[in-house]
Amino acid sequence: MGATRLFIKDEGHNPTHSFKARGLCCAVSMAKKLGAKKLAIPSAGNAAGALAAYAAAAGLEAHIFMPSDVPQSNYLESMASGAHVTLINGLISDCGRIVGERKQGEGWFEVSTLKEPYRIEGKKTMGYEVAEQFNWKLPDAILYPCGGGVGLIGMWKAFAEMEALGWIGPERPKMISVQAAGCAPITRAFEAGQPASEFWQNAHTVSSGLRVPKALGDFLVLQAVRESKGAALSITDEASLDAGLELARLEGIFAAPEGGACVAAARQLYQSAFFQPDDTVVIYNTGSGAKYAEAYSSRFFRSQSAEQDKLGGLILPR
Ligand SMILES: Cc1ncc(COP(=O)(O)O)c(C=O)c1O
Repeated sequence: MGATRLFIKDEGHNPTHSFKARGLCCAVSMAKKLGAKKLAIPSAGNAAGALAAYAAAAGLEAHIFMPSDVPQSNYLESMASGAHVTLINGLISDCGRIVGERKQGEGWFEVSTLKEPYRIEGKKTMGYEVAEQFNWKLPDAILYPCGGGVGLIGMWKAFAEMEALGWIGPERPKMISVQAAGCAPITRAFEAGQPASEFWQNAHTVSSGLRVPKALGDFLVLQAVRESKGAALSITDEASLDAGLELARLEGIFAAPEGGACVAAARQLYQSAFFQPDDTVVIYNTGSGAKYAEAYSSRFFRSQSAEQDKLGGLILPR
């Protein structure tokens, strides 16, 4: 890319292998402290796994609603942690509607994005860490794969609070929101100069975390991107997978396709000279590629023939 100061913040190392652990760790801890017993969530996938794990550790019930075509890893991790999982033939928006309709009757506390106050507090740690890791001088730009946008909103909030505390100065990174070409409501609103997005019809992408057709906090994302003089891009699935694999090949970091999308977006921004070669740029890889077997399997076809697994023969007792 010709970049000299390009960094990746690899969130695949979090418990449950995505950045969703940050928000749900905080939300579940506070829910337990405040007396909730049953937690419910609509999820694009990784938030479900994180809720399931933290709820298990806290001894709380987790009720999870997610699209039936989420990555198998998200289904397995949720089931393994003892969550009550309902797969919905639809999108996260349909899951959210069902949780909203049933929560009162079922006695669930809803931990949907931005409907309780603590997930965003947990996500703020991404902002604290990046400040600390760059010695309290924020980078020139941050690329973030944006679904519901809580990570970006959380970092933006963390920066304002750190400035108020006197920990950092007034300089802010350009905030770059990256979405998938098959579901890019925020990019479209950014390009159209609108304050909020419109529901994206027929959302589809292998970056399952980005399959959010309408984010509750879209206007906050757009505000932060504009205030920071940032940008909003959309990246095709092909380009996201290509960039994810390039990162794995060159750096040994196997990124979620959401992270791959940010790598591809960074390349575009260097090529268009939106970034200068000596800018300090941070890419958030929000999850591990190991959770996306279905998406990456399309690149490494393996024969499904059972031949290789057959027994060499049957040996009977004499
Ligand atoms: C790996 C990954 N990246 C990015 C996102 C988008 O996160 P947010 O909804 O906070 O924008 C998700 C959401 O599920 C995700 O799982």
